[in-house]
Amino acid sequence: MSEDLVEQIAKLRRELNAIILAHNYQRPEVQDVADYTGDSLELSRKAATTDADVIVFCGVHFMAETAKILSPEKTVLLPDEEAGCPMADMITADQLEQEKTKYPGVQVVCYVNSSAAVKAGSDICCTSANAVQVVQAIDRDRPILFVPDQYLGHYAMRRADREMQLWPGYCPTHMKIGIKDVFRKRERYPEAKVLVHPECRPDVIDAADEALSTGGIIRYARSYQGSTLIIGTETGILHRLNKENPAVEYVPITKRGLCPNMKRITLEKVLWSMTAMRPKIEIPEEIRRRALKAVQRMLRL
Ligand code: 13P
Ligand code: SF4
Repeated sequence: MSEDLVEQIAKLRRELNAIILAHNYQRPEVQDVADYTGDSLELSRKAATTDADVIVFCGVHFMAETAKILSPEKTVLLPDEEAGCPMADMITADQLEQEKTKYPGVQVVCYVNSSAAVKAGSDICCTSANAVQVVQAIDRDRPILFVPDQYLGHYAMRRADREMQLWPGYCPTHMKIGIKDVFRKRERYPEAKVLVHPECRPDVIDAADEALSTGGIIRYARSYQGSTLIIGTETGILHRLNKENPAVEYVPITKRGLCPNMKRITLEKVLWSMTAMRPKIEIPEEIRRRALKAVQRMLRL
């Protein structure tokens, strides 16, 4: 059945001149059918440069929206329109405008995990892979407001040694990783390095060896000399780690680290969406143009 689905998807991909992009947290079978799997930054770069006519985005809404911001002439499909990101929903464009009035001359750094309308009200975007670099690139004499993830913001603030105002958003999935999980795994695997995502709480990041984007975790594993790695992020990443570098044993820091929205995309939905050519991502042009400036400013860095 699954082979049949894969074949039908491959056939439609050729007919539509489509590219299938999948985030590192997607289900194994969805990652396997994709042309390209990566973190948010890698996927947005791919979306900006592909010559496909259709982008099938296997991820969550803001990721597909970022692809549309970058490639408005392409059809961007999100196989399940309910696949959102609760963190992205923690700030609206109106709330952002209200907050900006508190800090004259403010520069808004916006994590890509946000709506197109929030990006449109921001000066520059960042992902977990480049947040520190983005913050460092901002004029020293300008106040900075970081939205919506307080924890990525806190991490970037410390690494870049810059004061910032942090919007109190967070990722519910990464909140499930606690300091006790780090201690327990360290006790059980004393030789292993602990890698966590910068969306984790500061105490978890401090207790880990590295805080890395999902792409950063994949790269770290490639050159790792030890035998075991403790992985502190959404468990979907284990599939790619095991596939690309099976010599290392990967231990999830907790099995609770699951993003239900990422798991909404299934092979059946990918096929259905390519057949029906929906749900399509649409963004009002005025918002898209303003959001594009913030995304491009990040990509140029
Ligand atoms: P990455 O950009 O590191 O892939 O992270 C995206 C995300 O949603 C993390 O929760
Ligand atoms: Fe959003 Fe967290 Fe899911 Fe990433 S893991 S998509 S930040 S809810």
